[in-house]
Amino acid sequence: MNFTNTSSLKGEITIPGDKSISHRAIMLGAISDGTTEVKNFLQGADCLSTIDCFRKMGVSIENLSDTVIIHGNGLHGLKAPDSILDAGNSGTTTRLISGILSAQNFSCRLDGDDSLRTRPMKRIITPLTQMGADIDSINGNGCVPLKINGSKLHGIHYDSPVASAQVKSAILLAGLYAEGETSVTEPYLSRNHSELMLKYFGADVTSVGTTATVSPATKLTGGSIDVPGDISSAAYFIAAGLIVPDSEILIKNVGINPTRDGIIKAVQAMGGNITIMNRRNSGGEDTADILVKSSELNGTEIGGSLIPTLIDEIPVIAVLACFASGTTVIKNAEELKVKESNRIDVMVNNLSAMGADITATDDGMIINGGRPLHGITIDSKLDHRIAMSFTIASLMSEGETEITGAEVVKISYPDFYKDLESLKN
Ligand code: S3P
Repeated sequence: MNFTNTSSLKGEITIPGDKSISHRAIMLGAISDGTTEVKNFLQGADCLSTIDCFRKMGVSIENLSDTVIIHGNGLHGLKAPDSILDAGNSGTTTRLISGILSAQNFSCRLDGDDSLRTRPMKRIITPLTQMGADIDSINGNGCVPLKINGSKLHGIHYDSPVASAQVKSAILLAGLYAEGETSVTEPYLSRNHSELMLKYFGADVTSVGTTATVSPATKLTGGSIDVPGDISSAAYFIAAGLIVPDSEILIKNVGINPTRDGIIKAVQAMGGNITIMNRRNSGGEDTADILVKSSELNGTEIGGSLIPTLIDEIPVIAVLACFASGTTVIKNAEELKVKESNRIDVMVNNLSAMGADITATDDGMIINGGRPLHGITIDSKLDHRIAMSFTIASLMSEGETEITGAEVVKISYPDFYKDLESLKN
């Protein structure tokens, strides 16, 4: 797809449901008693992979587009699938479902696309194995395909070397089935949607600092979930509204859970004109409307405990930094190397080819803003966040930007291009 620059973005958009929360709603609904109704479910390819996996295990899931209804099988009601579970492109599906599969009374295989087949799964295999799980990386490379033989599990305390909600959630989900208590301590607090939703479904979960603890469950009870808009998707419009002159965008119904709101803090530190309005709470998740206006930005430093709260937004923050005066330093973000692509390399190589002054470091990047960008051909590497980040960069680049594999936005934001178009005057 080809993109050119634009002079102004104005209007109001409602972005689709949160990807992390949508995944968890399917998983917890599937292992609960009763019916779970999920409103504003994200119809992204990753979340559809999660639905597909649970259908294969005998869970009846009605996908009525905006609403999804899950008829739960209860904690011990999943059935052995008669084919391989396909997680597609989704790391979240793979890692979280592995926690559940480890404790079932059947064996199964879990696989995904070529990108997923390169993503590290040792990070969940190690703690789940300590709990008694029997998981094997079939090709011996620590990646999918995995063979999981359901086993009896016991609780552990795990000191996670990475601040990863996927690792934490896999362990907590396995902990529901384990004998004794299970706890995870992270170096920094990662997104806590699993803890919040587990509590909402009746599990005994406590969180103190960066430690989450779960007790074995006898049952979970389904309920109604209204999924807030995904702040990771809102981030593209926050960035666009700030860098395109003469812009004003109202982004409605965005989840602003404090473990996810790092983009707001980073933008405020950069001097961006961003207003959080109409704050409310829905099912334990903080939600608000976000108003952004064109701004003169300055560089900032992003690292430490802020990183897990904006990990998926770093590609578009790198774009923002190109339009800020001064230097932006992003550090402690080595996790970017193991996302759907190596996001440090892909952002640095392409922004640099577009004219930016940007250097990769071992754990992030350094950007000296203020250089004009020009369009080039960008290989999205079939990474949705790369395709969307460079679409935003194209809005302020001289000439044409071509993005190959642009349709990959279907992973998390199927209507991204349509929504962007609606803001052009
Ligand atoms: C996610 C956690 C993050 C994030 C991913 C979604 C989740 O990954 O990058 O897009 O839903 O738990 P890590 O847990 O690997 O940091």
